[in-house]
Amino acid sequence: MNNQTVVVLDFGGQYNQLIARRVRECGVYCELLPYNTKLEKLKKLEPIGIILTGGPSSVTEKGAPILSEEVLKLGVPVLGICYGCQLLSYMHGGTVTGGAREYGKRTLKTKGGALFKDVPKESTCWMSHSYFVGKAPEGCIVTASTDTCPTAAYENEKEKYYGVQFHPEVMHTQYGMKVLENFLFGVCKAKGDWTMKNFAERTIAALKEKIGDKKVLCALSGGVDSAVAATLVHKACKNLVCVFVDHGLLRKGEAEEVERVFRDEQGMKLITVDASERFLKKLEGVVEPEAKRKIIGEEFIRVFEEEAKKIGHVDYLVQGTIYPDVIESGLGDSAKIKSHHNVGALPDVIDFEEIVEPLRDLFKDEVRKCGFEIGLPRPIVMRQPFPGPGLAIRIIGDITRDKLSILRDADCIFREEIARAGLDEEIWQYFAVLTGARSVGVMGDERTYDYTLALRGVTSVDGMTADWARIPFDVLETISNRIVNEVGHINRIVYDITSKPPATIEWE
Ligand code: XMP
Repeated sequence: MNNQTVVVLDFGGQYNQLIARRVRECGVYCELLPYNTKLEKLKKLEPIGIILTGGPSSVTEKGAPILSEEVLKLGVPVLGICYGCQLLSYMHGGTVTGGAREYGKRTLKTKGGALFKDVPKESTCWMSHSYFVGKAPEGCIVTASTDTCPTAAYENEKEKYYGVQFHPEVMHTQYGMKVLENFLFGVCKAKGDWTMKNFAERTIAALKEKIGDKKVLCALSGGVDSAVAATLVHKACKNLVCVFVDHGLLRKGEAEEVERVFRDEQGMKLITVDASERFLKKLEGVVEPEAKRKIIGEEFIRVFEEEAKKIGHVDYLVQGTIYPDVIESGLGDSAKIKSHHNVGALPDVIDFEEIVEPLRDLFKDEVRKCGFEIGLPRPIVMRQPFPGPGLAIRIIGDITRDKLSILRDADCIFREEIARAGLDEEIWQYFAVLTGARSVGVMGDERTYDYTLALRGVTSVDGMTADWARIPFDVLETISNRIVNEVGHINRIVYDITSKPPATIEWE
């Protein structure tokens, strides 16, 4: 049985994935699709509601993205947010006016209406627009306003279309979730049937049926996506073989943890390949970041290919693709800042029949919930993102075993102290970087000339943008003291206070 589905039509706004995630948080399955998705495809999904997102255009502009009239004739309730709100008004004969620039928090005054059930008459909302609905279409009632935006919300109860100029999906809108819930449960009559328990049970059952006793191969990285994907498949079939390539650029204790969890606790067939020697050899003297990434990416594929050859033909290859990857691949290429290494390049070189991607409908937070649901331990499920090229891109300059060992020890102390301070699940990513800089210090009356270590901690939602984490000074102090005392060859520690952009999260 399929879940009830809401379709979010993407008009190019910056919060669009967030809208989809919020709908899912309400327990309603939804898909984010381009605004001009073919009617046939929409019909097939049998949506119980449609949400039109914000976007950078103005509806009165030539070439502005518009919605097919046919979509409005589907007889499905529609909610327009920001640009979507203006578009719905425009398509029904209302007017759209420019000139009321509103950015940030505003006081929202509501006057009843289906979307504002149980929302106080005054609350805070988040605005980000310069155009707004002047006159709402005939048959609509205006249900909210702000000082500068007379039509902050309107609705046509009879024809079931609704518009909100503010952004209910962002946290700063105090009752944003309530507004979305009112639309989903009040207007669309959603049942709230999207739960991770359901998802896991149904996915395992479907995988069981699909795979039967055929042979399956999975490249395990220890990251949460491949871990959850492999475990779902493992629960559905007996013939899964996981290959874990240890490229010698992992953090302290990481390889051991992967073996313990997946082989010992989950009982999976796990092949660990210790390829550190060959990776380090290839990386000898290499300084340039892109060259490092390229070498590691290629070598990884080669090692995996060799292992796969030993296993021979497999029927399925498991990949941990998640929904944002699916969305992004449909939206064209953006500028390449760094060549990311992941196992996406594998299919070309492995002898298999089909790729299985059990997580392709899930957002990252849902992957984590699913991981808990199927019994994976917390440290794996809540593991912070770790780049494929590993510590190689956290050592500035050439990579040696000595530098790796210094960085591993320092990074381990950083992680321990962040966990001790209870910040490990709050900070998106935190790690140490062995900078190429050396400086003069004094230790026990002796002059030292040693490495400068940088600490980086960032908060982020998806890694696309990030802010530096405000780690309390006393925690930083403990970390700094421990590292200089316990790890040799570091005599100076700095904290990176740049956001992304203009910096990136990793240093290389
Ligand atoms: P940047 O440094 O581009 O990183 O701001 C954004 C996020 O991506 C991670 N990252 C990678 N992940 N393969 C990956 O799977 C890679 O090659 C790679 N490079 C960076 C980074 O840790 C951060 O979470």
